[in-house]
Amino acid sequence: MHCREVGGSASVGRGQCGPEPTRRANRAWWDASAGGYQAEHGGFLGDADFCWGPEGLRESEAGLLGPVRGLDSLEVGCGAGPCSRWLAGAGARPVGVDISAVQLRHARELDRRTGITIPVLLGDAAALPFADCSFDVACSAYGALPFVADSSAVHREVARVLRPGGRWVFSVTHPVRWCFPDDPGPGGLTVRDSYFDRRPYVEYDSSGLPSYVEHHRTLGDHVREIVAAGLELVELIEPEWPEGHDRTWGGWSPQRGRLLPGTAVFVTRKPDPSPF
Ligand SMILES: C[S@@+](CC[C@H](N)C(=O)[O-])C[C@H]1O[C@@H](n2cnc3c(N)ncnc32)[C@H](O)[C@@H]1O
Repeated sequence: MHCREVGGSASVGRGQCGPEPTRRANRAWWDASAGGYQAEHGGFLGDADFCWGPEGLRESEAGLLGPVRGLDSLEVGCGAGPCSRWLAGAGARPVGVDISAVQLRHARELDRRTGITIPVLLGDAAALPFADCSFDVACSAYGALPFVADSSAVHREVARVLRPGGRWVFSVTHPVRWCFPDDPGPGGLTVRDSYFDRRPYVEYDSSGLPSYVEHHRTLGDHVREIVAAGLELVELIEPEWPEGHDRTWGGWSPQRGRLLPGTAVFVTRKPDPSPF
């Protein structure tokens, strides 16, 4: 989540930012920051491993997607694709989509390093470049959803490309974190903002244009959007901070993790009207 020093005449704040300026800002931000992101977090995420968030919950232990062998899987906001590479190792046929060409360049690099090549496409989560009913399962580990203004459109798109009965599992920053300063230490333990303030966090460049945007939805907003897209909510996971896990990632730290949820993982499913 938002946690960086912004230098020069740039500024930060909570403001309005619609779909197109959000898309433009975040595409450029991820292109410019992909190298730093991979250098800082790539080792923790792994080259071919599926991590749901800074608490380190792995799909190998959580099994939120169910058995994936033989399934067509879609990863939304795949970045360098470690999750899709893990899915390939588990017997799925993964495809990843991401808005950042530079993140996808890192995916190619990890393909070479691991010998596991995953097909990836440059595209926007809100306009998926796939035919209806193309996938058995879809997933996203902090990919795309925090970085789009219209998350309802993402859910509708995923519901469209999923086959009946398919799961859509995604993780985001736990909405309650938006009340607190993004500080991994004691400063991040006192409520500062309203949970109900839906205005996005926006960083502006020196010309006053958005250069990075994260959008907040309450738990109720997420559930409402999931249901409106025709999906069923199966489970909501709030991973606890594991004993002995001492890695800080931005505002996620052992100190805050022991007291506050940091990640929400939504397990949803496209209904199957003809299960027999
Ligand atoms: C925090 S990274 C997570 C990537 C991957 N799960 C990982 O752990 O490395 C978020 C990813 O979402 C992508 N993203 C942001 N907005 C997007 C959009 N509108 N459509 C598709 N991908 C998007 C970014 O380019 C970035 O690769």
